[in-house]
Amino acid sequence: MKVAVFSAKKYDRDGFTQWADASLQFHYIDSRLTPQTVQLAAGCHAICAFVNDDLSAAVLQQLSNLGIEMVALRCAGFNNVDLACAKTLGIRIARVPAYSPQAVAEHTVGMMLCLNRKLHKAYNRVRDDNFSLDGLLGFNLFGKTVGLIGTGRIGLATAKILHGFGCQLLCHDPVVSPEITALNARYVPMEALYAQSDIISLHCPLTPDTKHLINHYSVGSMKDGVMLINTSRGALIDTQAVITGLKSRKIAYLGLDVYEQEADLFFENLSEQVIDDEVFKRLLTFPNVLITGHQAFFTVEALQEISLITSDNLLAFASNTVTGNELTN
Ligand code: NAI
Repeated sequence: MKVAVFSAKKYDRDGFTQWADASLQFHYIDSRLTPQTVQLAAGCHAICAFVNDDLSAAVLQQLSNLGIEMVALRCAGFNNVDLACAKTLGIRIARVPAYSPQAVAEHTVGMMLCLNRKLHKAYNRVRDDNFSLDGLLGFNLFGKTVGLIGTGRIGLATAKILHGFGCQLLCHDPVVSPEITALNARYVPMEALYAQSDIISLHCPLTPDTKHLINHYSVGSMKDGVMLINTSRGALIDTQAVITGLKSRKIAYLGLDVYEQEADLFFENLSEQVIDDEVFKRLLTFPNVLITGHQAFFTVEALQEISLITSDNLLAFASNTVTGNELTN
């Protein structure tokens, strides 16, 4: 089976090529999947897509016209896929539900520590022979209250690390996890989580219900000086609302691994170009904002699992079986 791998980077090629054989051939395409690039999948039986590839109804229809019957997502989130349309067209969608929750959880906590202890500033200062501590004052994580929105795989892995730090955990999720309550964490209504948390971290999926979950109203309900971390999906946050929160000092620390308009920016080297996104550029002006370019998943262990599970999903499709990673609407 020939598979068109969109948004293919060197690390994707390295990961997937080890599983290639007579039954699974990968055709790597640098471009993102968009209505303009979809034709590059011609001659393939399946495609492999990533977080910022466009799998809207228009693109799915074009894929179907090319004879594509399978989309293998090499990620956990699937907010970029029109599942109802895929079902109508008879295109099978599979994903990698859990390749390494710890990778994302560790990056999340890394962002908390970096912002709190101002490691991003300290790194530059010391390289400039500036050993002054003025402006680097942090706070202990021990004893602080952390609010986790979403306690699935990544929320749980984050909770376990923070429990080890001696944090009090408040959680919100429609599904109660016994593993979370075993950490002495409490499920509380969203309002209580906003009002009581020193740090808030987002670990729920992006759905129509969770889009702009963090908005002017929710920011207003948070503690003064709150730290907000988003390693989930950019559109969980109304970016203008957090900029207002940063300007009013309501938000004292902001860590983002994802951004609502990231598809035009992330995963590319744009250092020689002018970036037109005024909102993103405004975020970068704040000293207390740390942004990484959707790298929370990016560990050796996670990449190995992603390529292995994605290949299994493709082979299952080729042999007309299932792995359990298929998405149904
Ligand atoms: P999961 O499916 O195991 O857990 C998600 C949890 O969110 C579930 O327990 C669900 O009940 C809960 N949830 C749903 N709606 C909610 C709401 N309105 N409020 C509170 N909780 C709600 O997913 P997992 O593996 O923990 O991943 C979470 C998200 O992390 C993914 O959807 C994806 O967007 C993001 N992600 C980001 C990565 C990165 O590199 N930055 C890598 C992998 C995932």
